[in-house]
Amino acid sequence: TRTQVVIIGSGPSGLLLGQILDRAGIDNIVLERKSKDYVLARVRAGVLEQGTVDLLTAVGVGERLAQDGLVHHGISLCFDSSLHRIDMTALTGKAVTVYGQTEVTRDLMEAREAYGAKTVYEADQVTPHDFAGDRPRVTYVKDGVAHEIACDFIAGCDGYHGVSRDSVPAGALTTYERIYPFGWLGILAEVPPADHELIYANSPRGFALCSMRSTHRSRYYVQCPIDDRVEDWPDQRFWDELRLRLDPVSAARVTTGPSFEKSIAPLRSFVAEPLRFGRLFLVGDAAHIVPPTGAKGLNLAVSDVRYLSEALIEHYGEQSDAGLDAYSGRALGRIWKAVRFSWWMTTMLHRFPQATSFDQRIQEADLAYLVSSKAAMTSLSENYVGLPH
Ligand code: FAD
Ligand code: DHB
Repeated sequence: TRTQVVIIGSGPSGLLLGQILDRAGIDNIVLERKSKDYVLARVRAGVLEQGTVDLLTAVGVGERLAQDGLVHHGISLCFDSSLHRIDMTALTGKAVTVYGQTEVTRDLMEAREAYGAKTVYEADQVTPHDFAGDRPRVTYVKDGVAHEIACDFIAGCDGYHGVSRDSVPAGALTTYERIYPFGWLGILAEVPPADHELIYANSPRGFALCSMRSTHRSRYYVQCPIDDRVEDWPDQRFWDELRLRLDPVSAARVTTGPSFEKSIAPLRSFVAEPLRFGRLFLVGDAAHIVPPTGAKGLNLAVSDVRYLSEALIEHYGEQSDAGLDAYSGRALGRIWKAVRFSWWMTTMLHRFPQATSFDQRIQEADLAYLVSSKAAMTSLSENYVGLPH
């Protein structure tokens, strides 16, 4: 088989890249290790920046998003048992949209099927080859049968645990990493959210986040010890702990009910540089991880895809490699700003086991300054709604 671009991974970055290339008439094949149902069931991000919404809309997958997405003009920070709203739209003129990653994935998969583009699910042993030269190939095994695809380019959209980054020769890659000493325990429940916007809480018992997927479905998170397992957290314990971390008014507004999803995610900052190795490109979580506190992971994957898709369209349309040459630098500029913002939000809002009394006072001052300063709230808001692409 031969195609122009092999896309490894059918998460949001792989599917969106495929969608844009399809519309530009650039032939592509997506290779995904898991099944379609498995990919669709993974509950992850929930907040889309305006730039993400605009791109999804421009490439034909904005219909359900416009109908079901919830536009939010602010967030609240909760500390010292009180709630402080930050009016992001008043400060920046922009808003965010709450629409689950599972829905983004579903919309993109449906568009891909409607177009008739090829996706191989449950592709085993996907391996990129010869990307240092002009004739890269990707091999994989499906139902016990070995396959090979010859291509022009390989897009590594296969997430943090994917094969693409690991295929790069040691020494060609520089990595930067911070691991945080706690995790996020998240649940989904079919109950109305505590508030109409998100609440990010820093309490003496740790961080908590009140989010949602719709007006009748809530997504809540609490900071938990890194070694906890979901079995340690029956629903009642979760609801009790969540309410203890909120101000009394918000706590009283929490509607409890049985959870239908519960998972623990570790928190990490990670960047691999550069993002290009000959004809292999790293995109999204394959290249970088941010802790979820700033809601940036999915949105960063989308801006990477914007840059790479523009570069590939330029390559095929104008016979120019300027965009491909610029991809890594362009994407990394935006990535590091999101890495910084996510690190800062995480540092300001969590309780760190090793924190000294000095660290604690600095954190309190950071929060108090933030909600007293229009400049500081504007800075938070312009990052949260998304820096320009
Ligand atoms: P992924 O979504 O990871 O997709 C990669 C795809 O590649 C997957 O389908 C995977 O199965 C496939 N793949 C992997 N290896 C191979 C292989 N060898 N061969 C073929 N296919 C392969 N962000 C937020 O903003 N808020 C959140 O609350 C949040 N929660 C998260 C919770 C978890 C547990 C994780 C892991 C991430 C979370 N994120 C969150 C981050 C956000 O979901 C990611 O940034 C986003 O999914 C990145 O998309 P991606 O397409 O680059 O990678
Ligand atoms: C959600 C996740 C986040 O990491 C965040 O900052 C906001 C919302 C969510 O899953 O709804």
